[in-house]
Amino acid sequence: MGETSTEFTQRERIPVGIFNSAELACREVADAIEALIRERDGADMPTVLGLATGSTPVGLYRELIRRHREGGLSFARVITFNLDEYYGLGGDHPESYRRFMQEQLFDHVDIEPENTHVPDGLVEREEVYGACRAYEEAIREAGGIDFQILGIGRTGHIGFNEPGSGPESRTRLVTLDSLTRRDAARDFLGEENVPRHAITMGIGTILEAKRIYLLAWGEAKAGVISQSVEEAPTDTVPAGFLQVHQDCRILVDHAAAAQLTRVRHPWLVGPVDWTPEMIRRAVLWLARKTGKALLKLVDEDYAENGMADLLTEQGSAYELNINIFNTPQHTITGWPGGKPEADDSHRPERADPFPKRVLVLSPEPMDDVYCMGGTLHRLANQGHELTVACQTSGSLAVPDPDLRRAVELLDEVARGQGGEKEAAFAASLRRQLVAKGQFGEDSRDLRYLKALIRRGEARASGRLLEVDADRLRFLDLPFYEQGRYRRFQPGKADVSIMAELLREIRPHQVFATGATHDPLSVHAICFLVLCQALDLCREEAWTRDCRIWLYRGPGAEWEAHEIDMAVPLSPDEFENKIQGIYQHQTQRSQSPSLDKGSSSNTWNLASLINRSAADTYDQLGLAEYEAIECFRKWVPDSWRD
Ligand code: PGA
Repeated sequence: MGETSTEFTQRERIPVGIFNSAELACREVADAIEALIRERDGADMPTVLGLATGSTPVGLYRELIRRHREGGLSFARVITFNLDEYYGLGGDHPESYRRFMQEQLFDHVDIEPENTHVPDGLVEREEVYGACRAYEEAIREAGGIDFQILGIGRTGHIGFNEPGSGPESRTRLVTLDSLTRRDAARDFLGEENVPRHAITMGIGTILEAKRIYLLAWGEAKAGVISQSVEEAPTDTVPAGFLQVHQDCRILVDHAAAAQLTRVRHPWLVGPVDWTPEMIRRAVLWLARKTGKALLKLVDEDYAENGMADLLTEQGSAYELNINIFNTPQHTITGWPGGKPEADDSHRPERADPFPKRVLVLSPEPMDDVYCMGGTLHRLANQGHELTVACQTSGSLAVPDPDLRRAVELLDEVARGQGGEKEAAFAASLRRQLVAKGQFGEDSRDLRYLKALIRRGEARASGRLLEVDADRLRFLDLPFYEQGRYRRFQPGKADVSIMAELLREIRPHQVFATGATHDPLSVHAICFLVLCQALDLCREEAWTRDCRIWLYRGPGAEWEAHEIDMAVPLSPDEFENKIQGIYQHQTQRSQSPSLDKGSSSNTWNLASLINRSAADTYDQLGLAEYEAIECFRKWVPDSWRD
């Protein structure tokens, strides 16, 4: 933690603080904001805050609200300016940033409404320029921004300054990048509903703030954080322009820090303690970097890539290579539940007991088949007592056209076959659908119907993977039913449902995901709920004989050195898995043009990832497979002796 500069941070052009959790980082930012407000209040001066929206600052806003309620922190003299707003959305639109700010902060503190500023998304096109100038003028009149909070988009945007935005840019109307629109698609229930334009403060405007804190959580931000921090600034990664600011800090959690050189390749910037884990990482990296199989690495490869000290310590490349080769070699298994009656001394999973009670957790329906469909098939096929639990209903991710089809089907059945009650229910669903309009919230009935659609898809998918319908459980965790994306708040009820399931099954194996995701994502919250449930169960006997395997989650795979179990899939098995994914019809891309071989399409992405894991193993000189699903062994802190 902290931002002491050392040889390990030599490539970092902005001070970066790495925190154990987003929550801890948010506390530090809240400390700084609170100190500033109290100092200004003491001097009878206002505090001017620049605020951001999105998932990133939600934890900070919750902490500020807590301090207001419990610590008497007052916002009575605070003036705020938000970075941006979607163009075309009014302040009451559920996805407008004005509404977001009201719900996430303003409505819960004593800020004067007239002191809060968010660009107006409904300003007439010909008045936009004037409105943007007036926004800048208002910032100046308030004395300039004292403290600016920023998130960062995967495009490297700050505010909505997409690639192409220069350091001189001012508040203006911009066109959103397609990646940004894709990232917002879930909030808007489909990419086609995401506005194409926004009004944003410019980079020049942001750079005038006296102090800047950029926050980033979760693995999805790791790449863009390292680019912004370690590469010379260009307008392809606008956040890099923060390098010129004299008082800017970046606060990240471990997942968002993962691509910084000091974390990813520490041996390139300073002397490292060559633990077996570090050696494994470095040698696997060297093989990938040189494009050579592990057993073909020679002394020069080590010497020319900053690893001469390792060579000196360990002898020769020959010995190093062989030692390292065995580790990934022993991760490969076609028996993810362990091979009964086999010598398991070099297998990732134990042979006994057999069969095992196996619990597979899927944050939303489809994550399981998407990330580990081949493994699921094997577990079922190899005779284990399998339970697949969908932690949330997944109802938020069902697009309205699919809902409408289901309502019409019900209506038709009711008219043809049903009694009065069914017909009345179908008619009421139709009315609720009309009443909600394009962006309204789903009523309870509609949301329930959406959940049922996803259950049907999960059953269809399971059927292909030989997972019988009675092996599926739908937990419908309450945090999901009460929230929207980016606004979930898990509670005790979630944890007790999860703990109850664990106690009922007493699993020998749990497969789960979510450890490295953005803390407000469904995946991370489901993981948090699991962790808390595992903590509750820590004294119970079954935990002594339970192994937990993490799959990385949609969109990414573990890196070679992180993999403890690699389950290869034959071409037929792989095809079957893809068919399983296809059963989740509502999760197809809503835009057919995206479906043509593009990696942005959910279905194509699954095959790219599994194939690239297989390519990695092939290139390392281990074995050549069609596809591989990878897992990492994990033990909760509270389970360690
Ligand atoms: P996020 O968005 O906080 O929802 O990840 C950040 C941004 O796009 O600036």
